Amino acid sequence: MYFEKLKELGEATASELFRACGEGGDIVEVYAEMESYVKTGLVMKMGNKFLYTGKSVENEEEQVRSYGEYYDYNKLIPMLERYYKLKIPTLLIGPHGCGKTLAVTAFARIHNIPFTNIPCSAGIREHHIVGKYVEQADGHIEWEDGLLTRSMKQGGITCFDELTTADDGVILRLDEALDARRELTLHNGVVKAKEGWWPVATLNSLDHIGTRQLPTAILSRFAIRVYVDYPSSLEEEILLVESVLDIPPAHKADCAKAVKVVRGVRKSKTEYLPYRPSIRESVAVCSLIVGGMELRQALKYTVIDVYSQWGNEIKDGVDEYVDSLI
Ligand SMILES: Nc1ncnc2c1ncn2[C@@H]1O[C@H](COP(=O)(O)OP(=O)(O)OP(=O)(O)O)[C@@H](O)[C@H]1O
Ligand SMILES: [Mg+2]
Repeated sequence: MYFEKLKELGEATASELFRACGEGGDIVEVYAEMESYVKTGLVMKMGNKFLYTGKSVENEEEQVRSYGEYYDYNKLIPMLERYYKLKIPTLLIGPHGCGKTLAVTAFARIHNIPFTNIPCSAGIREHHIVGKYVEQADGHIEWEDGLLTRSMKQGGITCFDELTTADDGVILRLDEALDARRELTLHNGVVKAKEGWWPVATLNSLDHIGTRQLPTAILSRFAIRVYVDYPSSLEEEILLVESVLDIPPAHKADCAKAVKVVRGVRKSKTEYLPYRPSIRESVAVCSLIVGGMELRQALKYTVIDVYSQWGNEIKDGVDEYVDSLI
């Protein structure tokens, strides 16, 4: 809100912005909002004035950057660059839909590193990752390498996505592959990972419903752990409204409001909320709005109706809560 005003004015002090927006609130919020934009370079601080620059900061280290569809609000890309150089197996831990998989995929794409994703939650079994004998068109049987075997031979990055959902056979093989020798025993010998092979895994935090604990042996093999959280409200707004989605000016205010509601439900103090919307819902609600749907309706389809599977009582509760947030 204050950022939009600053864009209009070009430059202003915090109290000028506060007065110009003319709404109840706290001037501390002006500073908090401006600080987030200063991080992106869109706003510069000069004395007691904030200046709208309209461009990103020169200093790459300080910059929160967009990499195509990935907005690196956590500055994960430079972090992953560091760990990739060391080739220490790395774990990204965080709530669902906070961008873990997207970050690793974007990292591999930016650096043009061969990348294999192993979606552990998709019913992946040991033979999918190691390989199996397959009958060929001419009837003879031939060995075909699985995802992990191919990736270790080729080098680059293997991402064990949602590792806690891996079945025991996969976990056992991973245990073997992540041993200091980086080897995998096949039917006809041993495969050694190509120099520079880098295993990464993503997993949901344990407070996330349905998440089971990772066996200690595997956990200890991923010696670098990075906690990835949802963005702050401003970062999420910048991510969607200014960065990743190309939102036409006419829809910006509604999209910003929708993102605030998604975040409100996500962070709701209610203990029994069986599901909390992630950035996926923020993206979806903004996309519906840009497509011409009215704000309240878009929120119904993305944030409210999901709760009907737990009964009308909880759905109606969320419905009312959404009204209070709009
Ligand atoms: N930093 C980001 N920049 C742009 N889009 C993002 C970002 N983070 C999340 N998203 C959006 O949220 C979606 C979910 O991201 P992603 O699949 O990477 O989450 P995740 O943390 O791997 O979730 P899960 O734990 O459920 O696998 C993305 O497809 C994208 O639309
Ligand atoms: Mg994921």
